[in-house]
Amino acid sequence: MELPTIDLDLFLSQSLETSAVQHECKKVADALITFGALILHDSRVTEGKNSAFLDLLEDYFAQSTSDIQKDERPELSYQVGVTLENTEKPKCAVDESCLSIIQRLEPSERPLDISAHSPDPKCRFFWKMSEVSPYETQFPGLNAPNVVPQAEEINARWTQTMEDWGESMKQAVENLADMACIGLGLPPCTFRDAGRYGPHLLAPTASDLEKYGRKDTILAGFHTDLNFLTIHGRSRYPGLNIWARNTGKRLPVKIPAGNYLLVQAGKQLEHLTGGLIKAGYHEVVVNDQTLKVIEKRKVENPERPLVRISSTFFWHLSSDFDLSPIPSLAERAKAFGASHIALGGYATDEPEYQPMKVGHQVQK
Ligand SMILES: [Fe+2]
Repeated sequence: MELPTIDLDLFLSQSLETSAVQHECKKVADALITFGALILHDSRVTEGKNSAFLDLLEDYFAQSTSDIQKDERPELSYQVGVTLENTEKPKCAVDESCLSIIQRLEPSERPLDISAHSPDPKCRFFWKMSEVSPYETQFPGLNAPNVVPQAEEINARWTQTMEDWGESMKQAVENLADMACIGLGLPPCTFRDAGRYGPHLLAPTASDLEKYGRKDTILAGFHTDLNFLTIHGRSRYPGLNIWARNTGKRLPVKIPAGNYLLVQAGKQLEHLTGGLIKAGYHEVVVNDQTLKVIEKRKVENPERPLVRISSTFFWHLSSDFDLSPIPSLAERAKAFGASHIALGGYATDEPEYQPMKVGHQVQK
């Protein structure tokens, strides 16, 4: 089973009324409902920009710990700058409903066992890509500027590379959000407008494969994302698995080389659609394919650091937005709930989607 591939070029090059565009938008909605994820093709996103970004982050995380620590901002709760490894623990390990989802999967489709899992052995960098709201806000958030690393060689290319790659992914995910609206029968800018002042983040993670390159190491334990849509560029190392919510099958993600990205639904999208689209579970592990690429990189690029970078961008709704299920979609979600189990999907305890501000959902 493969994830559907969506053609963003087609959407951008033809008028909204054409049947080709309408069909492609419907495909987006169906992919998000069935898989919670899709592959996106966008010619504006180049392999060159992704490579420059991966090279920069590999070099950054290959620095000494003391150099990297200069970019920590514990006093700002790590909301900008770097977070070192073994800090973030996947909450699923202690979350009953999440553990029961794992129990209900066929044993062959379950994620690696997270019950005894210590915090994820991954570092993360948060680079804010938000637009400051001109309106009064209940959630002033963080006004601190982004952290730019000091080491001369990295400093010189940091801001441009982060902005180039971050803007590519932001643009792609906002267009995809428009397509999803059309496919769901909503006005095209519904999601884009709701997320205009969202605290979007370019948030690459790094895993040291010299230290954590053994088979079946969990680099990021089974979890969903709390934001609206997450978009990823291609990593140099395989190992990302996702679960298609309506089939209960684990899918190893393969993003083709070139102009392709992966998009996955997060909790805010689940809430706004009343559960019609579910946030997608995923994990990052070291598997046989990861090991093969590690060996290949050692031979072909012996001078490069052996670090797995994930180029992740979290697109959020604005903190002041009232998060409440859109009635037409909540109706469809109810009708859909019973039927997907018959198709081989796994049952979940249907959560209540209480109205709340996005800022409160994030705090929760
Ligand atoms: Fe995630």
